[in-house]
Amino acid sequence: MPDEGGEPLGEPNHRPGYRVDGFLINDAGNFYAYVNRCRHMTTPLDFVRDQFFSEDRRYLMCYTHGALYEPATGFCIAGPCKGESLYRLPVQVDRGDILVGCPEGDLSFLAE
Ligand code: FES
Repeated sequence: MPDEGGEPLGEPNHRPGYRVDGFLINDAGNFYAYVNRCRHMTTPLDFVRDQFFSEDRRYLMCYTHGALYEPATGFCIAGPCKGESLYRLPVQVDRGDILVGCPEGDLSFLAE
């Protein structure tokens, strides 16, 4: 995994009846994962495939209308969904393996 890069998750989350896509980032050595859905509209952030960071690499960016999110929190600091947050996925680092979980509950509202 490249430093400070975004990676689509290798295995999509499969639950009976629907699929939710997410992405994992390495922000200065800290790992965070989010559902790949902008809070403005139901589009993935990476309209340009696998591009999740702004040009200055300080923020996650939705390439559809330019919303900017803080990498560590998923909080939107600028754009049409300012004040809302990405849906976070739990991340655990275990002896070099990075595990991304799925929150409990019905996520069908996030399905593609
Ligand atoms: S869809 Fe992401 S900013 Fe509009």
